Amino acid sequence: MKEAAKKVAERLRDASSVLIISHIDADGISSGSIASYVLDHIGIKNEIRFVKKLDEKLIADLEAGNHELIWFTDLGSGYVHMLGNLNAVISDHHVPSEVKVETFEEKEDVGTSTSSSPKTLFDFSEASGTPTPVTSNILQVNPHLVGRDGSTDISGAGTAYLVARELAPELKWLASIAIVGAVGDLQDRGEGKLIGTNREILEDAIESGAMEAIVDIGLYGRETRPLYKLIQYTSDPELIGLSGNYRACMNFLMSLDIDLKAGEKWRSWSDLDRMEQRRLLSALSNFASREELLSEIYLFVNEKPGTSLHEAKEFATLLNSCGRYGKAEVAFEVCKGDRATYLNQAFDLQGGHKKYLVQSMKIIEEMGIETMDNIQYVHAGDQILDSVIGIVAGMVLGSGKIPKHMPIFAFSDAEDGVKVSGRSTDDMAAMGIDLSELMSKITEEIGGIGGGHNVAAGATIEAGKEDEFLQLADKMVGEMILRARDG
Ligand code: C5P
Ligand code: ZN
Repeated sequence: MKEAAKKVAERLRDASSVLIISHIDADGISSGSIASYVLDHIGIKNEIRFVKKLDEKLIADLEAGNHELIWFTDLGSGYVHMLGNLNAVISDHHVPSEVKVETFEEKEDVGTSTSSSPKTLFDFSEASGTPTPVTSNILQVNPHLVGRDGSTDISGAGTAYLVARELAPELKWLASIAIVGAVGDLQDRGEGKLIGTNREILEDAIESGAMEAIVDIGLYGRETRPLYKLIQYTSDPELIGLSGNYRACMNFLMSLDIDLKAGEKWRSWSDLDRMEQRRLLSALSNFASREELLSEIYLFVNEKPGTSLHEAKEFATLLNSCGRYGKAEVAFEVCKGDRATYLNQAFDLQGGHKKYLVQSMKIIEEMGIETMDNIQYVHAGDQILDSVIGIVAGMVLGSGKIPKHMPIFAFSDAEDGVKVSGRSTDDMAAMGIDLSELMSKITEEIGGIGGGHNVAAGATIEAGKEDEFLQLADKMVGEMILRARDG
């Protein structure tokens, strides 16, 4: 990836102006910010556009735009076969479309397991004499091209950082923004800490003085959530008797002799002193093991404790709160350093996002989840935004209220059809279920456009084709499990 990043950097350095195209989620915003910041720094004119996805219409627009050079971040690889007419570089961690074809063929011919197929990828790269396959005039930095797992090894923001590091090694602090992208894409979920290339990036972030990594309570919301919510809203690990139960959480906290409020304000984990934290953690150990309760946490040392800018996961949510509601530019300015107007706007948007998620979960609960042989699904119609439906699908799957051994698909009406978001778990991936493969195969068959990662993928299909999609998805998941089991 370093070699690839060097080449991408060279191409960028030669350009007089660059158009950056990035995704609207936390990782996409982090990626785009890193790209734009480094180009500003080395004096290359740049503009940025945030998009929900790449599709034919956007690509046609870009072709007509006659741009000198386009830098795709956190997207592009999945659609590289459609980008042939563009002068472009890509830093991304989605499954590349060229490689997708190769792995499919290999799997079908040889009937090997579904785990991603590094052998083919290495052969591919060695054959071209370089670790970065070049597709026509497009250069890519992508972990899949060197046999690494794009859902855990490095994020879109990480790949953008590798390029930035080649362009301006003095901007090491940008690594801390790459960490936000990685945790925003839940790359730390498996081991409770970042692994692989992400750790190398973390070292840069720490060396730069911007970030520290500590092992501490891993429940989401340590900075800004009132303590009772920190516990009540936690479903992974499920704290039996506490999760989802407001009364029980209040009683539990009061029994520990911890002040829940400071004046009018609810106290969060970060407001507690050491002794209080210790007391709470040891009481929680009766509900889950210490391994389940503790994670590696990434803190911005120069930000104020008790704000969502202080901890990487809450920072990522702040970015999503903007990007998913058409305000990625606000979050972009915050990443690049604004701590005034844009930050205040972002905080406002965050309040709206929280309410929206609570309301969406209620809507889903009322609608109910349908079950098929191998999958479960819900159709939110026009009740939930297509840009938020993926987050909601993930929350529903993690809620503990529905089976955790089947992928969930959630539909939502979109401008150009119906959006479907698929979510599964690492356990399902280990069983052979690969949602990225599923999305691209199904859209090949019924039309539309889709892709992503093994545990989180999405597509847009024609309205009215939902049943067809579900039938195929149900069948395909069954086949994937069998294929993995029978080797
Ligand atoms: O939109 P959603 O959150 O469900 O997307 C999950 C993952 O799938 C994201 O990484 C996204 O970039 C990818 N995706 C894609 N093509 C689409 C829709 C989503 O590659 N048409
Ligand atoms: Zn990403």
